[in-house]
Amino acid sequence: MSDPVLSIRDLTVEIPTRHGILRPVDGVSYDIAAGEILGVVGESGAGKSMAGNAVIGLLNPPAHIAKGEIRVRGTRVDQLTGDAMRRLRGKEIGMVFQDPLTSLNPLLRIGDQLTETMLAHLDISRTEADRRAVAALEEVGIPGAAERVGSYPHEFSGGMRQRVVIALALCAEPSLIIADEPTTALDVSVQAQIIALLKKLCRERGTAVMLITHDMGVIAEAADRVAVMYAGQLAELGPVRDVLTAPHHPYTDGLMGSTPLASRGKDRLHQIPGAMPRLDALPEGCAFHPRCPRVQDACRVSPGPRIEDGAGRAACLFPMTREAVA
Ligand SMILES: Nc1ncnc2c1ncn2[C@@H]1O[C@H](COP(=O)(O)OP(=O)(O)OP(=O)(O)O)[C@@H](O)[C@H]1O
Ligand SMILES: [Mg+2]
Repeated sequence: MSDPVLSIRDLTVEIPTRHGILRPVDGVSYDIAAGEILGVVGESGAGKSMAGNAVIGLLNPPAHIAKGEIRVRGTRVDQLTGDAMRRLRGKEIGMVFQDPLTSLNPLLRIGDQLTETMLAHLDISRTEADRRAVAALEEVGIPGAAERVGSYPHEFSGGMRQRVVIALALCAEPSLIIADEPTTALDVSVQAQIIALLKKLCRERGTAVMLITHDMGVIAEAADRVAVMYAGQLAELGPVRDVLTAPHHPYTDGLMGSTPLASRGKDRLHQIPGAMPRLDALPEGCAFHPRCPRVQDACRVSPGPRIEDGAGRAACLFPMTREAVA
């Protein structure tokens, strides 16, 4: 297998506070291969966005990477300076956020935003960049692309704006896309179209995608593998089909409710009784144990095994493997 596009090892993000150090991301490791979509799922506050922001160098101080390594196509990126990181963001890593307006400059015509981005990162002429800007808008399904390059962001609907953002994220031909809740702010009818578009374009180009979402339907539809996060840690990591049909971690099982496949495509995360612990009040042992329906004494003292990519699927002392369920 070729080298992964993104490789995260033991990633740990810390926030120093008056009450001690918080770890919103704690020892997370995974890879994303070229053309692969990794879905990242978990309840609010699980650390999904923090992990994504760490990769693109957009952590808000005092949050910082305290430990671990992030590599993009083999190159360490977790210690880059501001300028080097900015170059990498446009060129190697594209971003799609929940609110398309955060990615667009309200004062620039969208054609100019695409052209500027391409000229900054690709060795092409202005004429070629202008041509590609129209082609990029056509490709993401903007009707009348040749005229619409002259429009401003506010002249588009939310769904069309997110299409523009996808065109912008892909136009410098990045090897990795970080998409953080890319459809959460959109009408339900538009969500599936945007996910399908992102999936199609990234597959065609061999772009690796980190797709952060609350929506198990989106995971089932778009992702190849899924990383389930709980209280800053990886709870489960595996191929989507395996994880959704036979979760090994009781937390994953809880997120999907009792009938995961029947609710496919529309359900957000199932409500699990209780709440995720605050980062300054994590329980001893496994962080999920106070809410776990399968808790045993050992879970109160010992955390589950850490998931290393390629080895281990669930960070659980008593995973729900076939033998355990039978
Ligand atoms: N400045 C801060 N000080 C203390 N805690 C913080 C700070 N910023 C973020 N956190 C905590 O970091 C944790 C991880 O947040 P993150 O935004 O990554 O969650 P998320 O999984 O993306 O959630 P959501 O689904 O709501 O977007 C949360 O528990 C949050 O409260
Ligand atoms: Mg988030």
